[in-house]
Amino acid sequence: MAINAQEVLDKIKEIPAMPNVIVKALGIIKDDTSGTKELSEIMAYDQALTSQVLKLVNSAYYGFAQEITSVNKALALLGMTQTKNIIIAVAMKPMLTSQGGRDMWKHSLKCAVAAEALAQKLGIIDPGDAFTVGFLHDIGKILLNIVDTMTYQKVRTAVKNGMDVIDAENDEFETNHCDMGFLLAKKWKLSVLLANCIKYHHDPLSSSMPQVSTLAYLANKISHEEPDVYDEEMVKEQLGIEVSEVMKIREDIEEKANVLFSQLNAG
Ligand SMILES: [Fe+2]
Ligand SMILES: [Fe+2]
Repeated sequence: MAINAQEVLDKIKEIPAMPNVIVKALGIIKDDTSGTKELSEIMAYDQALTSQVLKLVNSAYYGFAQEITSVNKALALLGMTQTKNIIIAVAMKPMLTSQGGRDMWKHSLKCAVAAEALAQKLGIIDPGDAFTVGFLHDIGKILLNIVDTMTYQKVRTAVKNGMDVIDAENDEFETNHCDMGFLLAKKWKLSVLLANCIKYHHDPLSSSMPQVSTLAYLANKISHEEPDVYDEEMVKEQLGIEVSEVMKIREDIEEKANVLFSQLNAG
């Protein structure tokens, strides 16, 4: 009997809560009337997170000449969106690494950097939102791993042997990480944009937002360790971007992502 993503989600006794600080940070940023003061107040309650955020802000990725010693200063220099992205990356690390392993964590970070870079180039979506899209695009894999770690290991092996990930998940779970991620995004009350990109990053033309979903699709493709083959025609049509430009972005993000990765790993 076929089961669907909702039934799988219902089976999970403990659905991972979005780390509290992210819920609050996202809530504040959505609300135009509040601002940097509130965000720095939230951070003040979490010293471990604050120190990791400051470490990252002071890394070569941002390249500030002067040492930044407080969240307020970071906010002033980086702005809300960038600071929010750093908070998300730091706060999500434990969940991603414990359930998905080092590769999943690295791929998520790289995809975030890729989506941000594509958004900056194309101007179709706020680069800060794009970073979050990239970072969370495969969050459904975490859920499937929680449902049945042994079975998800079978999926990983099948993928290593060349099987398409969605096919492998559908075979083993009768649902896949896109549908599961979409349900989690709704549960976490993430934006429609984010939920859509999570659901359609493997099949962007089925989305009601095909252009931004194609951005998520491309960011995912170029952030795998081995360059993934992508649908060049669809990307050209949706995003107006040539293969040569995509390859250039791929090179650029490699270095940026490595800096972020090593900094967050050390922290
Ligand atoms: Fe995916
Ligand atoms: Fe992915």
